[in-house]
Amino acid sequence: MSTPDLFSSEPAPAERAADLRAQLNHHAHRYYTLDAPEIPDAEYDRLFRELQALEAAHPELLTPDSPTQRVGGTVLDAFTPVRHAVPMLSINTETDTEPTGASNFDTRVRRALGLTDADPPVEYVAELKFDGLAMSLRYESGVLVQGATRGDGEVGEDVTHNVRTIKQIPLRLPVAAPDVLEVRGEVYLRRDDFESLNEKQRAKIAAGVKGEKTFVNPRNAAAGAVRQLDSAIAAQRPLSFFAYGLGEITPEQRGGPVFETHYELLMQLKAWGFPVAEQTSVCRGADELIAFHQRIGASRDLLPYDIDGVVYKVNSLALQRQLGFVTREPRWAVAHKYPAQEQLTTVLAIDVQVGRTGKLTPVAKLAPVFVGGVTVTNATLHNEDEARRKDVRLGDTVIVRRAGDVIPEVVAVLPEKRQGGAEVFTMPHQCPVCGSAAVREAGEVDYRCSGGLYCSAQRKQAILHFAQRRAVEVEGLGDKLVEQLVDSGAVNTLPDLYRLGFSALASLDRMADKSAQNIVGALEKSKQTTLPRFLFGLGIRHVGEATAKDLARHFGQLDRIMDASVEQLLEVNDVGPVVAQSIRTFFDQPHNREVVEQLRACGVHWEEGEPATPALKPLAGKTFVLTGTFPTLSRDQARDRLEAAGAKVAGSVSKKTDYVVAGAEAGSKLEKAQDLGVAVIDEAAMLALLQG
Ligand code: IVH
Repeated sequence: MSTPDLFSSEPAPAERAADLRAQLNHHAHRYYTLDAPEIPDAEYDRLFRELQALEAAHPELLTPDSPTQRVGGTVLDAFTPVRHAVPMLSINTETDTEPTGASNFDTRVRRALGLTDADPPVEYVAELKFDGLAMSLRYESGVLVQGATRGDGEVGEDVTHNVRTIKQIPLRLPVAAPDVLEVRGEVYLRRDDFESLNEKQRAKIAAGVKGEKTFVNPRNAAAGAVRQLDSAIAAQRPLSFFAYGLGEITPEQRGGPVFETHYELLMQLKAWGFPVAEQTSVCRGADELIAFHQRIGASRDLLPYDIDGVVYKVNSLALQRQLGFVTREPRWAVAHKYPAQEQLTTVLAIDVQVGRTGKLTPVAKLAPVFVGGVTVTNATLHNEDEARRKDVRLGDTVIVRRAGDVIPEVVAVLPEKRQGGAEVFTMPHQCPVCGSAAVREAGEVDYRCSGGLYCSAQRKQAILHFAQRRAVEVEGLGDKLVEQLVDSGAVNTLPDLYRLGFSALASLDRMADKSAQNIVGALEKSKQTTLPRFLFGLGIRHVGEATAKDLARHFGQLDRIMDASVEQLLEVNDVGPVVAQSIRTFFDQPHNREVVEQLRACGVHWEEGEPATPALKPLAGKTFVLTGTFPTLSRDQARDRLEAAGAKVAGSVSKKTDYVVAGAEAGSKLEKAQDLGVAVIDEAAMLALLQG
C-alpha cells in the first residue's frame, strides 16, 4: 500500500500555487519590464489560468501579492490619507532651456561644496524627467503593501488597489530585500498606449456611452487612472512605471544594501525588478551634463513616452547629505527643462485652404504661441471629419502640440473655456476662392473644389508645383511672386510663365530689375529638363516622382504616355488601376494637352528615349514567386534581377505562377507550389533563366 502524499508527483496545492506565482512573476518581469519574454503568451496565459483555478478551489491560498490580483475589482468609497515616512520632495526646476541651465546648476553645487577651479569635476547622474505622476511604493518583507500618491509631499493618498494593476510594478521582490523598502518613481502612460486608450474612448462616445471622454494627454490619462476608486478602470489603462529613488529603507545594513552612490541605488532597484530608464547616465562635470541634455533633446521624440526635461543628481550620497535642502528642495538635484511641446492658445478663425488638386483643408488660425521651439500661428485640422471630431470652434481655447519637425496640430479643445455662441464647424459646399461647387465623393474624406484650373488657388498651387526644385525647377519663383503673377492676371496657365518678359516682371510691385533678370534667366534654364521631371511637374493626381520615373522609363516618350490606354498604363511597374485611370483622365482633357503643346512650343524640352520593349526581355510575361533564403542573392536583389528581365514577381502562389524559386527554409509557398503543380526551381536555375 502506498500513501499518495509520499509517492505522487503532484505537489500540494499550496506549493503549486507558490511555484506558479514565482513563475508568473518572473515571466511578467521579463515581458513587461525587460521586454524580453522567454515563453510564448499562450504559455503565460496557461500558467495564469492554472493559478486562477487553484485559487478558486482553495480560497485560503489567495495572497495579496498573487499575480491574479492585478486585474482589479476593488472599489473604494474614498481614498485613505497616507503620511509619508520620508517626505516626497520636489526638485528645483531650471527653466533656462539652454545649456547654461546645466552649467548654472554645476556652479551652484561647486560653490556650496566649497570647490575651486583646481578641484576635479563633480560626478552626477543624469536621468530623464518623466511626465507622469510621482508614486511611493512600500514593500514589507518583500511584498507590496502600499502605493501612495505624492499629495502635498507630507500626506498622499492610498492608491494600492490601482497600483497593483500596473504590470511593471513587482508585487513581490524576487531577491532578499530590506524589512521595509519604499521605492519612489513615476507612473506614466506610453504614447502608443495613450493613443489606443483614446481610440477606445472615441468608440464608446460614438456608441453613445454616457459620461465617457477622450484624454488630453498621457499624463492626465495616467493621473486619472491612478485616482480611480474602482480599480477595474485603472486595470483597463495600461500604465507603466519608472523607479528613480528611495523613501524609507530599514534596516539598511543587516543583510540589506548600503549605497554610496545614487547610481548604485538605481542598479539595485533594477536588480529588485523595477524598470529603470536605459538613458540613465553618469556624467562628470557640466560639459557632460550639457552633452546629455542635448543628446536626449535631439532624440526626445523617438522615446515611446513623454518627458519634459532631464534631471541631474549629485551621484555621491555623502555629498548629497552635505548639500542638504533649501526649503523643500534638495540642493543636490535639479530638473532641466526642454521647450514645452504643448501650449494653450485661442482660435482666431477657421480658414479653408485650397490645394493644388482642389482639396479643401480647414486650418485653425491661432493667436501666436511659442511651442516646440517655434512660433505657431496655424494648425491644420486635416478635413471635415477631423475638425468635427475635435469640435474646434471660433474663439475656443485649444491645446496646440508641436513635437520635433512634425507639423503643429490642435490636440484638443478645452470645452469648459468655451464662451458660447460659436457654431459647430461645417465645411463650405462652395470653393472659398472661386465659388465653384465643392464636392465630397462617397468614400472620400476630402471635399474638392470642382473648378480645376478655373480656380486661382489651384492655379497658384499648380504653378508652384511645376516650378519646384524636384520638378522643372524655376529658381526664385516662390509663393509671393506666384501670388502676384496670378492675381495681376499676368499668368493664368503654365505656358504663360514662359511668355513673361523682363518688362512684365520688372513692372511688378517690389520687383527690382536685378531680380526680374534672375527670374528670366531661371525660366530660360528650366526649359531644358527631363521627361520624369516634366511629367511630375504637370501635377497629375497620384503621379509622384517615383511613378513619373517609372512612366518615363517604360514609355520613353511623352506622346506614348499621352496616348496609352489604361491597359497599357497598367503594364508599368507599380501602376495600379487608380493611377492608370488618373493619368488617362488627365490626358483626355483637351486643355491639359493644350498646356503640354504650348509648353513645348515655348521651348521646354527633354531628351526622349526608346520605349522599354518588354517583349524582347527573356522573362517577359512570366510570373515568379520567391521563398526562403538564397545562397548568393538577397530576396530584393533576386526580385530586381527578375523584374529587369521583364518578369513579374508576385507575393503569393497561384495557378498563374510560372516558377517558384525556393531557397533554404522555404515555407508554405513551397507547399502550395507543390500542391498546384507549379515548377519549383533553385537560385542556380533562376540565374540560368536570367541568362536567357
Ligand atoms: S527625483 C528629491 N527624478 O518630477 C528628488 N523626479 O518636481 C525627488 N520626476 O515629483 C524627485 N522624473 O514626479 C526625480 N528622474 C526623476 C524624475 C522625477 C520625473 C518628477 C517627480 C517629482 C517631480 C519633481
